Amino acid sequence: MHILVITFLLIFITSSDCKIIRQVIAFGDSFFDTGNVFNYIFNRTNPPSPPYFKGTYSNGPNSITRVVTKIKYREEHVEFKNYAYGGATTDNQLIQGFSSYKDITLKVPGALQQIELFHQNKTGKQIPQKQRLYFLSAGGNNFFYNNSISYQAITESLLKCVQLLLSYGARHIFVLNFPPYQDSPIITRSGNLSIQHYVENFIIKGKL
Ligand SMILES: *[C@@H]1O[C@H](CO)[C@@H](O)[C@H](O)[C@H]1NC(C)=O
Ligand SMILES: *[C@@H]1O[C@H](CO)[C@@H](O)[C@H](O)[C@H]1NC(C)=O
Ligand SMILES: *[C@@H]1O[C@H](CO)[C@@H](O)[C@H](O)[C@H]1NC(C)=O
Ligand SMILES: *[C@@H]1O[C@H](CO)[C@@H](O)[C@H](O)[C@H]1NC(C)=O
Repeated sequence: MHILVITFLLIFITSSDCKIIRQVIAFGDSFFDTGNVFNYIFNRTNPPSPPYFKGTYSNGPNSITRVVTKIKYREEHVEFKNYAYGGATTDNQLIQGFSSYKDITLKVPGALQQIELFHQNKTGKQIPQKQRLYFLSAGGNNFFYNNSISYQAITESLLKCVQLLLSYGARHIFVLNFPPYQDSPIITRSGNLSIQHYVENFIIKGKL
């Protein structure tokens, strides 16, 4: 997964259209969250480290952090804006996303709402669209909260996010495919084979 993203990125950043990248913006769920739930939802208590790493949902730097680090090798002045929240869905209008810790469950913005938040926020320097790279990773939590939703509905919702970004002028958007979620600890530790098979089937069929 990481390798795939980084390979695409290297092809992309060597193409002539985008010699300079000055801003990376991420939207989505726990695959990208680098501290939003930690700092703004749970007063720096959740996700706990260890086992997690610096407010992420990973045991080390997560994929978006690695991508930004790669870009910074060649571009000194890269601004990274991350709107991703662990527990987020594609769109709260479709399915509300949550983040839970111990006995507290709190709402988080969906990817579509994150895109709107970013668009509304005009503070700071406005970077030209051709120098911005957008990343989107969402969809898995939709079915976690409602496993009768179809993968087509999730894909459509993800496309709506992309269309919204395009309507705001975005030129370069990466939409992440789904990693083998069925092998992640949260699923395997549940010991529920029916969930594991459901996720596997969903990922193979949905090719999100
Ligand atoms: C975070 O801290 C604030 C202020 O002390 C408190 O009102 C809020 O309930 C806390 N939130 C959580 C999730 O613990
Ligand atoms: C808006 O952007 C500024 C500058 O990046 C940031 O400090 C602020 O937290 C953002 N506000 C919201 C509501 O996201
Ligand atoms: C779950 O998704 C199905 C299919 O889209 C929908 O009919 C149902 O109302 C949803 N349930 C909840 C609790 O949102
Ligand atoms: C496993 O997951 C399915 C689907 O969510 C659920 O219907 C079933 O009750 C679960 N089984 C156990 C043993 O928790």
